[in-house]
Amino acid sequence: MKTRIGILTGGGDCPGLNAVIRAVVKTAAKRDWETVGILGGFDGLLPPRRTRLLDYHEMDGLLFVGGTILGTANKGQFTAKIGHGIAQRIPDDILEAARTTVSELGLRALVVVGGDGSLSIAQQLHEKGIPLVGVPKTIDNDLEATAITFGFDSAVDCATDALDRLRTTAESHGRVMVLEVMGRYAGWIAMYAGIAGGGDVILIPEIPFRFDRICAKIAEREQDGRRFTLVVVAEGAHEHGGTYATSGPQETNREARLGGIGARVAEEIQKRTGKEARVCVLGHLQRGGRPTTFDRLLCTRFGANAVRLIAEERYGCMVAFRPPDMVPVPITEAIGRLRHVPVDGDFVRTARALGISLGD
Ligand code: F6P
Repeated sequence: MKTRIGILTGGGDCPGLNAVIRAVVKTAAKRDWETVGILGGFDGLLPPRRTRLLDYHEMDGLLFVGGTILGTANKGQFTAKIGHGIAQRIPDDILEAARTTVSELGLRALVVVGGDGSLSIAQQLHEKGIPLVGVPKTIDNDLEATAITFGFDSAVDCATDALDRLRTTAESHGRVMVLEVMGRYAGWIAMYAGIAGGGDVILIPEIPFRFDRICAKIAEREQDGRRFTLVVVAEGAHEHGGTYATSGPQETNREARLGGIGARVAEEIQKRTGKEARVCVLGHLQRGGRPTTFDRLLCTRFGANAVRLIAEERYGCMVAFRPPDMVPVPITEAIGRLRHVPVDGDFVRTARALGISLGD
C-alpha cells in the first residue's frame, strides 16, 4: 500500500487554500504518496467521516481558484479558541475519534491549513498523538512565528482596489468615504491597504481613536483645498475607552461577529463636520476570489514544504516564512498570542510621516 497523508482546511476561507492543496497533492504524488482530503474542516474526521482521495489530475488549474475544494468551517465540535487568547480543551472523546480516523485511514500524517484557531486545534490533536504539520493561513495576518500568512496579500489587494474606486467617487462628490475592512484584533489589512490606497485616516484595533482627531484631519484637508477624505477602518477598531462593534448576538462556541464600526464612524463624521459621509463594507469580497501572484508563490512553497516536513517527521511543526526561507517552527510558537501591528513600528511611523491620521 502507498504512503498516505491527509489534508484539511480549517477556519474562515481565504484566497490560496486551493493553491496549498494543489502543492501538497502534487508534491506528495512526486514521492508516490497518496493524499486524502478531509472535507468540511476538522469535523470531517468525526463519524460519519467525510473524506475523499485527491487525484493528481484534479489539481489542474486549481492554483488560481479561490475558496477550498475541501470545504471549511469556523464552527463545529473542535472549538479550541473563542475570542482573543481564550483557549479551551477539546473534549477527549472528540480528539480520540479523530485519532481513530487518522489511523483507520492509514494516514502517515495530516496537513492542517489554518489560522490561530485551527492551529490551536492541531496542537491538541498533536498532543493526542496524531502526527501532523501546519500551514499558516489567515487574511488577518495576525499569526505569530511567520513573517506573513497566505491570503493576506490577496485581501490587501482587494481592499486597495476598493480604495482606488472609492477615491474617484469621493472626489467627484466632495465626500468622506469610509471603507470597513476585516481585522478582528489586528489592523494589518487596514494599515497596508490604507497606505497603498492613499487613505487619509487609518483606524486599527491597536490604536483606539477619537472622533475629534478624525474630524481635525478632515478640516485640515478642507483648508488645504481637498474636499474629500478617505477613511479606512478595521472591523475591530474602537473609540478610545470604547469597545468593538458587533453585529448580532454571539452564538455558543463562536467568536462574536464584528461589524458596524464603519457605519458608526461615517455617521459621527457627518454629524460633527456637516460633510456628507458614506460607508462601504468590503466584507467577504476580500476573502473570496483569486489569490495574487505573491500568494500563489507563498502557498506553493508552504504546501511543498509541508510535505517535506512530513518526510522528515517534523511533526507538531508549522511551515513559517522567514524571508527568503521556509523554516519549521513548533506550532506552539505560532498560537496563543496574536501578532499585532506594532504601534511604534515602521508602518505606523511611515503613515504618520505621510500625514495620515491614525485617529489618536
Ligand atoms: O479571521 C478571519 C476573519 O476574516 C475575520 O477578520 C472576520 O472577523 C471573520 O473572519 C469573519 O468570519 P465569518 O464571517 O466567516 O464568520
